[in-house]
Amino acid sequence: MNVFATPVAPELARPRWRDELPTQYAELGQRLEPLLPCLEWPLHLPWIDAINRLKVERGATIMAHSYQSPEIFHGVADLTGDSLALAQAASRCESNLIVLCGVHFMAESAKILAPEKTVLIPDPEAGCSLASSITADDVRALRARHPGVPVVSYVNTSAAVKAQSDACCTSANAVDVVEAMGADRVIFLPDRFLGQHVARQTRVELILWHGQCEVHEKFTAAQARHARERFDARLVAHPECPPEVLAEADFVGSTSAMAGWLEREQPPRVALITECSMADNLRARFPATQFIKPCNLCPHMQKITLQNIHAALLHGRHAVEVPADVAAGARRALQRMLAVGRRPGA
Ligand code: 13P
Ligand code: SF4
Repeated sequence: MNVFATPVAPELARPRWRDELPTQYAELGQRLEPLLPCLEWPLHLPWIDAINRLKVERGATIMAHSYQSPEIFHGVADLTGDSLALAQAASRCESNLIVLCGVHFMAESAKILAPEKTVLIPDPEAGCSLASSITADDVRALRARHPGVPVVSYVNTSAAVKAQSDACCTSANAVDVVEAMGADRVIFLPDRFLGQHVARQTRVELILWHGQCEVHEKFTAAQARHARERFDARLVAHPECPPEVLAEADFVGSTSAMAGWLEREQPPRVALITECSMADNLRARFPATQFIKPCNLCPHMQKITLQNIHAALLHGRHAVEVPADVAAGARRALQRMLAVGRRPGA
């Protein structure tokens, strides 16, 4: 017997769990229903409920990056966005306690920008292949090789690397930060693909490092073309992808810029060439758009779970600390980035 052809009894077809939701979660249930298998959602609800209660008791703000899974992004986060949005939010956050659901460099930036606050990361092992591709000694060696050339580092770096840099940037403002240096040449690190993308948009000569994102480097131009030809989809890519992938895209931008583009264009079908939780999170906001979802998950982002967010709030762990001398240099570089800000639509 073909079990997939078996008709489902009407009483089973209707997800009963929806009817049993406490009223305050009815709207959330509706939003999550198309994003998560319906067997999964009831398992998340007790955790979401416990976290939301504890968050109020502790006076905490939960910030989540666009790549966090839907139950975190939609279920418990007070603030969501790209790495620039999270840094901006941390610098003006009023709560004394921030739980950063993202990778370590994001939590470290939040602590540097809000030194008097407690910043918790639910799993301190949530790293980033770009951040681990370069050390502060590497930056000192680059400076010695190129005396007088300013250094712009992507926020996907350690505090120690930021402290050796003149300014930080994110994918949302990299071109503007590079040009704000007022120099003919700039050392841009560590992402060579983002660097090549920036170099195509400015006259400033960039000296690049060889870092790559282990998630975005895997995409190929053939996959991008397949998504367009097979599904008639528009293509939106993150600038950490290889140049031949970006050349296929209708739009290239940070994770927040992708959402802005969807808002403006409202395409019937889109393939997001980036970490795949992004499509899950945006599907709730753009129900009329069909998302062709890649399956590249960031293993570091996925280390953050409802369970370890709950433990973070319950036990006050894991507090991010940055030595004062390192923090001072890194803060200068981050504040220079914040002063440049974000262009509309970026
Ligand atoms: P955004 O700054 O676009 O959020 O990207 C951060 C990141 O780590 C992408 O891989
Ligand atoms: Fe780092 Fe890539 Fe993961 Fe972003 S997706 S956190 S750049 S490893």
